[in-house]
Amino acid sequence: MSKPMTTLELYKMKQEGQPITMLTAYDFPTAMLVDSAGIDMILVGDSMGNVVLGYDTTVPVTIDDIVHHTKAVNRGVKRAMVVADMPFMSCHISEEETMRNAARLMQEGGAKAVKIEGGHQVINVVKKLTDAGIPVMGHLGLTPQSVNQIGGFRVQGKTAADAQQLIDDAKVLQDAGIFALVLECIPAQLAKKVTAELDIPTIGIGAGVDCDGQVLVTHDMLGVNDQFKPKFVKCFTNLHQEIMKALETYKEEVKERQFPAAEHTFNISEEELKKLY
Ligand code: KIV
Repeated sequence: MSKPMTTLELYKMKQEGQPITMLTAYDFPTAMLVDSAGIDMILVGDSMGNVVLGYDTTVPVTIDDIVHHTKAVNRGVKRAMVVADMPFMSCHISEEETMRNAARLMQEGGAKAVKIEGGHQVINVVKKLTDAGIPVMGHLGLTPQSVNQIGGFRVQGKTAADAQQLIDDAKVLQDAGIFALVLECIPAQLAKKVTAELDIPTIGIGAGVDCDGQVLVTHDMLGVNDQFKPKFVKCFTNLHQEIMKALETYKEEVKERQFPAAEHTFNISEEELKKLY
């Protein structure tokens, strides 16, 4: 078995120009599959709000939700680095609450790192966490927890001023000690510039091919939901179609009494059966 992924290994991969892979998981079987495929990092993202909890945004997701799902993911992982999201408002109320929430993700959930959305606004929080020995991943560009403030899910950093702000934020986050930075939905040219200017790895989602690594929501790249297909997602398979086919066949076979067949059935011997009557 290969060695568990570390922050040091991630730096090395950036230096050597080896692309870093990351996918989401919210449960044990998905985590096992993603880890077995050799993906470097697993994100227990607050995208679970939209993807598996049925909310419209990530805003309703709580720290208890993330702890619960991180525990399940962690039980399925041998090598990948498990990163747990700090959900909406979990690091904004007080320093004490922030530290306790991050500690829960690591001690109860078993995460190896936490991810925080935001730039200069969260620098003090990031510093506190990194000073306490907690690896922090940053997240700039489209930050879904601020969807109500930014007015929708849209590409960020499209003006020179916004792009400069993002570059400045990336640098102060790096100075505050983050070990990697997610860049979500920004122009590829901007992501390339940020990646070149940072020593830490950038992990892109909708940020072009020049980031140090890529992350996608696993359910999206497997094509589980046929109602949701943003431009930056590539479906590497169509599980929606496969699952629907299987479910409809099951229904049909039960209705036609074709399932269960002999090979799915337990029997009692004739001798024992006779004793019953
Ligand atoms: O919650 C999540 O899945 C994320 C990724 C989209 C980066 O933050």
